[in-house]
Amino acid sequence: ADLPAFRAALLDWYAAHGRDLPWRRTRDPYPIWVSEVMLQQTTVAAVVPYWERFLEAFPTVEALAAAPESAVLRLWEGLGYYSRARNLHAAAKAVVERGEWPRSVEGLRDLPGVGRYTAGAVASFAFGLPAPIVEANTLRLYARLLAYRGDPRSSAGQAALWDFAERILPPSPSESGESGSGVDPGLVNQAVMELGGTVCTVKEPRCGECPVSDWCGAFTTGLQSEIPLPKAR
Ligand code: ADE
Repeated sequence: ADLPAFRAALLDWYAAHGRDLPWRRTRDPYPIWVSEVMLQQTTVAAVVPYWERFLEAFPTVEALAAAPESAVLRLWEGLGYYSRARNLHAAAKAVVERGEWPRSVEGLRDLPGVGRYTAGAVASFAFGLPAPIVEANTLRLYARLLAYRGDPRSSAGQAALWDFAERILPPSPSESGESGSGVDPGLVNQAVMELGGTVCTVKEPRCGECPVSDWCGAFTTGLQSEIPLPKAR
């Protein structure tokens, strides 16, 4: 309900507890995009050394576009899901051909391998756009905050979670007058990912450490172990 207070509690926690991950130190879309593609199916700890080697070998999107595919795949060895590397390479060529990065979620989604999540991540982290994100960590966090009892992977569940992801972002300047809220949507997105990844964990979430437990429908009803429903199998 009180979204400014929710965001303030979230961002205070993130400022104190957020990890200093290398891709959080830049607003350059290229390294941010590489990190998000690597993080799609791989943990933060495993990604860091790959991301560092990859950017050393291909420091710019132009360098990646000009590289032979075999060199790109060699640096991906061990990360798995090699279509990610092929798509990354193809997308680099497309960006270089266009001459600039698309600066909208829709434009980013036209790139190979860039889905709704990755487009929202790059749009908010690099360009500061109020673009929502839902991935594994935020799915769990939002489902619990909403006390969403259905299947969060169903189309109704996805609609509810993406809608929530959009509502928690600060209003952009055009929506709230001259200066906007002054809050960076990219920072809110980093903070929800961090909270989902480190406190709002699958098993035994640490609700005692959660800055937004007062706003959490699952916590306030004692349902944090029941929500979200596990993946159907
Ligand atoms: N997983 C995917 N994107 C991430 C990010 N930017 N920070 C931490 N974990 C992530």
